[in-house]
Order: sequence, then structure tokens, then C-alpha cells
Amino acid sequence: MSVDLAKAARDPIRLGILLSGRGSNFLAMAESIREGVLPGVQIAVVISNVAEAPGLAKAREMGLPSAVFVSQGRKRAEHDADLTACLQAHHVDLVCLAGYMRLLSPEFIAAFPNRILNIHPSLLPAFPGLEAQQQAFEHGVKVAGCTVHFVDDHLDHGVIVLQRTIPVLESDDAHSLAARILVEEHLAYTEAIAHVAGGEYEIRGRRFVKRNSSR
Ligand code: GRF
Repeated sequence: MSVDLAKAARDPIRLGILLSGRGSNFLAMAESIREGVLPGVQIAVVISNVAEAPGLAKAREMGLPSAVFVSQGRKRAEHDADLTACLQAHHVDLVCLAGYMRLLSPEFIAAFPNRILNIHPSLLPAFPGLEAQQQAFEHGVKVAGCTVHFVDDHLDHGVIVLQRTIPVLESDDAHSLAARILVEEHLAYTEAIAHVAGGEYEIRGRRFVKRNSSR
């Protein structure tokens, strides 16, 4: 199932962004929208589970609708029910995880089937989980990168929308590698949203297959 094409022709595709930290991927999306690189896409709401998240402060500065649901100490299902209600109240079509550092409940994932994107700073299925760039560097990989994928019930596992790669340089350390991957992340997320929001794709098993797109 892809994003509803009839709706895409009529109305903007509304993004709901979930973040926990600095929010550079969110800012890259917002910049792409501002520059007209994502026509027909708008940010409906930015939600953080961390009250002090710099990304949330940026959303407020930008005058975007935002919300905080502090997750610490709360049951996952209850917290996620609040998220779902907020996203639905803002008529969100596509949820974008942008450094959202909390696992989602099966109920949340079921509420947005193939409507949740995540970005991960490795070439999945290699190096899922935390500190992916460091894992890759320490493993001695020669090529690194990032993955935008749909979210399913398993960590860093869903259907891959796209990946971007970079070579690992002799001069790299884990920090410089992470910084260069982040540049690719910002490009990858915009590109992935463009594909998904355009609606011209099919999911065949684990494969994300593009059709000709007019958007
Ligand atoms: C990024 O590296 C992303 O791949 C990972 O969390 C980090 C978030 O960074 N999921 P930012 O908050 O978007 O700057």
C-alpha cells in the first residue's frame, strides 16, 4: 500500500516528525520544503519525547506546530497512544522518525501501516541499533552510509526505501565518519520523502519498487 495518490493530487502530504535530540534531519527536511524541493509536502507537527530536545526548540522558533510527550517513566503503550492521537489530530499522512530514541509499540506501528519512515546511520542490515557509525568503523568497513526504511515491528529492519554510501577514508575516525554520514542522511531523507510522498511505488515483499513519478 502506498500513500494515497488521489489525496496527493488534492491535498498536501502532511508529515509528523518524531525526534528526541538535536534534530538536524528534521531541519534538513524543513529546509528542503522551504526551498521547494518537496512540492506538496508540509510539516504538520513536530513531536518530541524529550522536553529539552534542541530539535523541538528549533521547531518552536520556526513557528511549526509542536508537542512534547515525555516518555520517561511511562508505559510504552500509553505514551504511544498519546503520540497516535496527536498525529491523527494533525491529520498526519507520513510519520518521519528523525533521531527518535525510543522503540515504538506494535499498536503505534499498526496505526500507520507503511506510513512510518526512519533513518539509520549505517547500511542496513549491517549495524542496527545504537552507535552504528562507531560499530561500522570498528568493524573496519570500507564503505559506510545510511538507510531510510519503513518501520516494522523489528529494530532497524523494515523495507528499505533508499541508501546512500560513502567510502571510509584512511584518515577517518568514528567521529569524522559519523559527520560525513550525516551529510548523506540529510540528502537521503529528503529524497526518500519525495519518493514516498509521490506515491509512485509498490512494496513487493521486502523490495521498494519505484514507478514513474510525476512529482
Ligand atoms: C541520526 O544519525 C539518525 O540517523 C539517527 O539518529 C541521528 C539523529 O540525528 N537515527 P539528528 O537529531 O537528526 O541530528
